[in-house]
Amino acid sequence: MKNDKDNSTSSTEQDMSNNAAKKMTDGAVTQGYRGERHKLIALLNAALASELVCFLRYTRFYYTVGGLSNTALKAEFMQHAREEMQHANMLAERIVQLNGKPDFDPENLLNNAHTQYDDTDKIQAMIKANLVAERIAIESYRKMILELQDSDPTTSLLLTTILSQEEEHAEEMRSLLD
Ligand SMILES: [Fe+2]
Ligand SMILES: [Fe+2]
Repeated sequence: MKNDKDNSTSSTEQDMSNNAAKKMTDGAVTQGYRGERHKLIALLNAALASELVCFLRYTRFYYTVGGLSNTALKAEFMQHAREEMQHANMLAERIVQLNGKPDFDPENLLNNAHTQYDDTDKIQAMIKANLVAERIAIESYRKMILELQDSDPTTSLLLTTILSQEEEHAEEMRSLLD
């Protein structure tokens, strides 16, 4: 009985080792990967485009707002811009791990993004534009996380990390409206 178990364990290990050795150029994508890779890469590229648009919007707001009394607001915009760029980098890295191509083509940005650029010069309108974009990001990440938690726990975890920061961003923008 013990021998049977040992044999089956070692043959499973042998299978895993054989499968891992096959298609080594697939890198992190192994035979057991259960996600719909192409569909997921398209979704991640849409999220990447959204992050880049958010980075651009926050960055312009940072440079556009003037006045000593707005120093704290500017700092907030700059911090969010940096974090959106970090999110973009995290998404691009994951796309590459899934053997996809991260899309940084400026021509595709607005079409692919869920969020909008905004060219207002009014501070209240800037804060509102950011808040709307953050809420859109929260909704889309939440949907993706629910879809992926069984088939691709790594991406799901990554998106959860980003989501928690988008929730902070939304709360910070909401408090600025008060
Ligand atoms: Fe973000
Ligand atoms: Fe954000």
